[in-house]
Amino acid sequence: MKKKLNKNFWKNKKVFITGINGFVGSNLAKELLKNGAEVVGLIRNKNRKTLLFAENLNKKITLIDGDVENKKILKRVFIEENIDICFHLAAQVEVGLAQKYPYLTWETNIKGTYTFFEAIRENGKKVKSIIVASSDKAYGEYPIKKMPYKENYELKPIYPYDVSKACADLIAKSYSQELFKLPIAITRFSNIYGPGQANFSALIPDCFQSLIKKTKFILRGNGEHKRDFLYIKDVINLYLQISQSLYLEPNKISGEVFNAGSNRGHKVKDIVKMIFEIGNKKKNLRSIFKNSKFKKTKGEIKSQYMDYKKVNKFFGWRPTFKMDRGLRETYDWYKKYISKIT
Ligand SMILES: NC(=O)c1ccc[n+]([C@@H]2O[C@H](COP(=O)([O-])OP(=O)(O)OC[C@H]3O[C@@H](n4cnc5c(N)ncnc54)[C@H](O)[C@@H]3O)[C@@H](O)[C@H]2O)c1
Repeated sequence: MKKKLNKNFWKNKKVFITGINGFVGSNLAKELLKNGAEVVGLIRNKNRKTLLFAENLNKKITLIDGDVENKKILKRVFIEENIDICFHLAAQVEVGLAQKYPYLTWETNIKGTYTFFEAIRENGKKVKSIIVASSDKAYGEYPIKKMPYKENYELKPIYPYDVSKACADLIAKSYSQELFKLPIAITRFSNIYGPGQANFSALIPDCFQSLIKKTKFILRGNGEHKRDFLYIKDVINLYLQISQSLYLEPNKISGEVFNAGSNRGHKVKDIVKMIFEIGNKKKNLRSIFKNSKFKKTKGEIKSQYMDYKKVNKFFGWRPTFKMDRGLRETYDWYKKYISKIT
């Protein structure tokens, strides 16, 4: 079922995005606007130092202020805005914050998800395609011999962020089944990086920030953990393909889960090395690695990378950006924008 992305499809479609002021949300909004969609976005934080505001996307979008746990606000969106397509991206994504304040994470990631679906179930009759961003973290930890992760693996997370995403994932699955029959696809993507990522607790933004601001970079662990990374442009392309296919062929896509990643893991220390080499600061690496050699992290999966066979079979998708190219583009973006977004 290989599908070509039909860009005309998006003309005049009304698309609602939760988490629009975030990294993925703002990149998605940018691409949708380019393709002629009308975009409505839920925005909670008043942070203006984001891609959404830096590129004036906010002026072309209907922005609704509020929390995703607020059913009244969401209800109003579906009653008043005639939404065709949704992307549910709003989440508390900081792993460290989730460990310190799990309550806040449960509220946003779990209550926010069922509130969103209840608002659609009661008032979103016109909605024909709903994408929910789950995460690779929802799977929990598997031994290295089980990599890359496949969609049929059981969800068995133990850490708060990971559990919150697994709950949201199962809630979404439930709304797609026989009782409610909402048209939903669930995505479990690996780590995403690229222009617009302003969560500086994540490895790549943190590393670029240290490089550009010439501050000391501190690794959280010993750098031996393996992670899989996707460049944001590949992710947005896949989101559009899944959403469009779900809209056009709900019987084939609804209730499906889609992994995406690069099929391989990179050691965290290798990513740090690549970034400091791109920034011509190779000499800093010795002290970074020396200081982190015996560091241990708590509450994090050791190794994880994702299979993309299913999305390749369904949509002909594969990652097109090699790490080096993606990181170079990202570096150029941070150099220009870091003063605006920090
Ligand atoms: N970035 C990644 O590496 C990655 C990987 C896999 C899955 N995901 C998932 O993709 C989605 C988007 O991630 P992102 O990287 O853009 O994160 P982000 O933090 O940049 O964006 C999330 C947005 O949600 C908003 N938000 C948080 N709590 C809210 C609430 N209570 N009400 C309304 N809005 C709220 C935040 O203000 C933010 O703008 C998340 O669901 C995340 O779990 C991200």
